[in-house]
Amino acid sequence: MGVLSKIATSGRHGENSAYFDGWKAYDTDPFHPKHNPRGVIQMGLAENQLCFDMIEEWVVNNPRASICSEEGVDEFKNIALYQDYHGLLQFRKAVARFMERVRGDRVRFDPDRIVMSGGATGAHEILAFCLLDPGEAFLVPTPYYPGYDRDLRWRTGVELYPVPCDSSNDFKLTSSALESAYAKAMDESIRVKGLLINNPSNPLGTVLDRDTLKDIVRFANDKKIHLVCDEIYAATVFSAPEFVSVAEVMEEVECDPDLVHIAYSLSKDLGLPGFRVGVVYSYSAAVVSCARRMSSFALVSTQTQHLVASVLSDEAFVGRFLRESSERLGTRHRDFTRGLARFEIGTLHGNAGLFVWMDLRRLLREATFEAESELWRVIIDEVKLNVSPGGSFHCSEPGWFRVCFANMDEETMAVALARIWKFVGQRQGGEEAEAAKTKTKKKKCRRSLEINLSFRGLDDYLTSSPHHSPMSSPMVHATT
Ligand SMILES: Cc1ncc(COP(=O)(O)O)c(C=O)c1O
Repeated sequence: MGVLSKIATSGRHGENSAYFDGWKAYDTDPFHPKHNPRGVIQMGLAENQLCFDMIEEWVVNNPRASICSEEGVDEFKNIALYQDYHGLLQFRKAVARFMERVRGDRVRFDPDRIVMSGGATGAHEILAFCLLDPGEAFLVPTPYYPGYDRDLRWRTGVELYPVPCDSSNDFKLTSSALESAYAKAMDESIRVKGLLINNPSNPLGTVLDRDTLKDIVRFANDKKIHLVCDEIYAATVFSAPEFVSVAEVMEEVECDPDLVHIAYSLSKDLGLPGFRVGVVYSYSAAVVSCARRMSSFALVSTQTQHLVASVLSDEAFVGRFLRESSERLGTRHRDFTRGLARFEIGTLHGNAGLFVWMDLRRLLREATFEAESELWRVIIDEVKLNVSPGGSFHCSEPGWFRVCFANMDEETMAVALARIWKFVGQRQGGEEAEAAKTKTKKKKCRRSLEINLSFRGLDDYLTSSPHHSPMSSPMVHATT
């Protein structure tokens, strides 16, 4: 008899993937500007650290929000004792209000429909449990976030069925792609009970336009299947077009609200993944009540609820934060994609998220996923960058990589770009590399990119650059 149960050893945890292997490579040899300048740079973690200073400043200026401060300790006992599993009312109100603001105040959310979960990870599992039986499937457009394979499938027995999207139309989801995936699943006797979409998309960094979203709602409604919308990146949009939530579109097309559910968390929009604040928001009363029961396995601690409620209730702060965050993300995205473009590396045009979808198809030995894996191994082992290969996102086309850019400072990003430049230069042959070098020297660029990144200078820079601050190491210890 084995130690573990069948479900524990089923392999449905989805963690046997390059996406998670890359993190292991980073964990064993993490980059540090001073202590390990040749280590692996973590570009596989979608973490939003760009406005962390604002949250820290708010916490320092508002000691009453913490029950572990002299100013806030009066609340300690109240918060530390058992609380209602529905969550503190003040917390649910503040989260509902935040969700409204992130959606431009164009929709309202009812605090009584907010169900807490351990991050969006927990929200997905709760929804899968509440909506589908083992063996039933969600359609999911590809490429999609690799964590779904674990979060929705492992303990629930639910299946994910891909809706392939590709670069021929910039990976846009179309009604015909949905229809043919649905028909194919039916042919294979798979019971499709839901459609899971992620808007804005991880890994694409794009938003769904209003018409596409309407088509999606109509599709789910026609087929009488559930529509789960993961809107975890709603506030990471940094340029037009704006984010449109399913909550808005529901009011514009005919649909059965009982079929629509939103998964959300503060991990990306507020940059607080460690707090594990997730939300199931369902328009079905039955789902809300069932989800609430399920959520007792992974509630958000009342201490966290208390602090988060205080932060989010400061409306002026929230307004400043949302503006600043989107501006900083936009600047970082622009610098990074321009840096890549200077080495003629293309990216899918995106306007949201904490990553770019990088096109390395021309560097593949051949157009296969084996060749993509080979290239990825070289990028991890020799270039020492943990980027995530498209195959791990179930991309239907080899050669795409997701590269995260918001979990590090500018100097680390410059080092990463230098490494990419060196690598691409070597791959393309000495001549082209020299041309790229000369071209780059001529161009003016921002301070972070002004650092001398010539091939010979790179090593010196990595070991001795005065530009590095002790703060410049990416904080990348998360393991999910
Ligand atoms: C699309 C998507 N959904 C869900 C999650 C899980 O988020 P959380 O940390 O809130 O559990 C992630 C995390 O990267 C994600 O990218």
